[in-house]
Amino acid sequence: MKIAFAKPEIPASGTLVALAAEGRKLGKLAQQLDKTTKGAITRALEASRFKGGAEEFLTILAPAGVDVARIIVAGIGAPAKYDTLAAQSLGGRLVAALNNTGEKDVSIWIESIGDMKLAEADFAANVAYGARLRFYRFDKYKTKEKPEQKPSVKRFTVLVGDAADAKRTFDPMDKVVDAVNVTRDLVSEPANIIYPQTLAAEARKLSEVGVEVKVLGVKEMTKLGMGALLGVGQGSSRESQLVTMQWNGADSKQKPIAFVGKGVTFDTGGISIKPAQGMEDMKWDMAGSAAVIGAMRALASRKAKVNAVGVVGLVENMPSGTAQRPGDIVTSMSGQTIEVLNTDAEGRLVLADAMWYCQETFKPRVMIDLATLTGAILIALGTVYAGMYANDEELAKQLEESGKATGELLWRMPLAQAYNKMMDSPAADVKNISGSRNAGSITAAEFLQRFVQKGTIWSHLDIAGMAWSDKDSPTTPRGATGFGVRLLDHLVAKHYEEK
Ligand code: BES
Ligand code: MN
Ligand code: ZN
Repeated sequence: MKIAFAKPEIPASGTLVALAAEGRKLGKLAQQLDKTTKGAITRALEASRFKGGAEEFLTILAPAGVDVARIIVAGIGAPAKYDTLAAQSLGGRLVAALNNTGEKDVSIWIESIGDMKLAEADFAANVAYGARLRFYRFDKYKTKEKPEQKPSVKRFTVLVGDAADAKRTFDPMDKVVDAVNVTRDLVSEPANIIYPQTLAAEARKLSEVGVEVKVLGVKEMTKLGMGALLGVGQGSSRESQLVTMQWNGADSKQKPIAFVGKGVTFDTGGISIKPAQGMEDMKWDMAGSAAVIGAMRALASRKAKVNAVGVVGLVENMPSGTAQRPGDIVTSMSGQTIEVLNTDAEGRLVLADAMWYCQETFKPRVMIDLATLTGAILIALGTVYAGMYANDEELAKQLEESGKATGELLWRMPLAQAYNKMMDSPAADVKNISGSRNAGSITAAEFLQRFVQKGTIWSHLDIAGMAWSDKDSPTTPRGATGFGVRLLDHLVAKHYEEK
């Protein structure tokens, strides 16, 4: 689908989208179209329940008096409340509604209505952003689809007074969509295609946009003493990898913001094996690492004025004759010993070494890890909010705000000494499960906190409920969501870029 921005002009074909506010208040274009069609819109309004609400469409097919094949009047609700997320949702819902109609050409006429605060250029750019986000589809393994089963929209044109201004606003957003879609592709790929070495190879492609990528294998990690990460991967025939990605967009004296991702390319549970039912979902247990790769791509491709690093620990958690056993004690890079009581609590083991390496190597000003870490966060927050933990009030606030602004919502969860104590091991420095079903996401976060160095400002995002969706939402078709890319990009743009 091609996006274009152009001067407002009634097109000669395709679908034309006009706007109306709540209370059936037609925008200027809709009023004009009503006249040229000799009242087709008025008659359609009378024949429908359309009120102009923010989720409503009124469709008129083959209207007389105009060349276009279809007019859609799109509701925007109360103009004063209209914001970027609402505009994204409009773009997304239009694409979804038209993709199975056979329509190839969509034009939407952007105008400021009533007391709308959203600037026209932002309105236009966000409609295009939402359209592109929703247009995503992972169909590379569908070899027998007929043309009529494929999405039909080919051109999406945003008609807006200052088209050049809207285009300028959209350019970096366009790059963010590309990055979100890279993340979605990586998460969607099955585990026979994406495993540690192939995921590392995908990360290497970031060098195309100026990111410096380094890959460590088992030999290097053994030298570094990463016994926690290596223990998880030792049952797999796929070699574990650790990838670092550096984007230097600011003064070299500026300490980087760091993102660390859990990249378990398949999580069988290991010897503490998971039940068969639903195990296929564990191909997306690398969504944290895919979000880090996507976020690095977004920052580099839009040339963000920031120093940022990404570190991802890539392993496959398999049961085998070489797999680690429940009860094994491993020594992490930090020197702390870990009693592995459940081999299915593997993500925290991978992150323990990836986070330690990140801090030792890059001395980041802030470190944020993303992980599909626990089923318990699904019990607590479902699929609406990701769990957010932070050892710093300001970072927590920044993250929460970026969540609201991008629609990638975060709910802050508590850290407390009493939870931390639940991870004490009788045999080693720490154990990898608390042994109680209570507070499962919190105790996992407390485990991670033991690998946060004094003075490191840190946040952990448990995205187990957010990486994959069983249903469509306005800007995300069902499947891999790409959760985290828009959030981290926004956080950096808002708080960490040089002006
Ligand atoms: N990858 C899983 C967590 C998960 C569950 C992600 C459901 C997405 C959907 C993680 O490695 C895991 O298995 N966690 C265990 C921890 C338990 C053994 C303490 C869990 O949540 O059951
Ligand atoms: Mn697991
Ligand atoms: Zn896992």
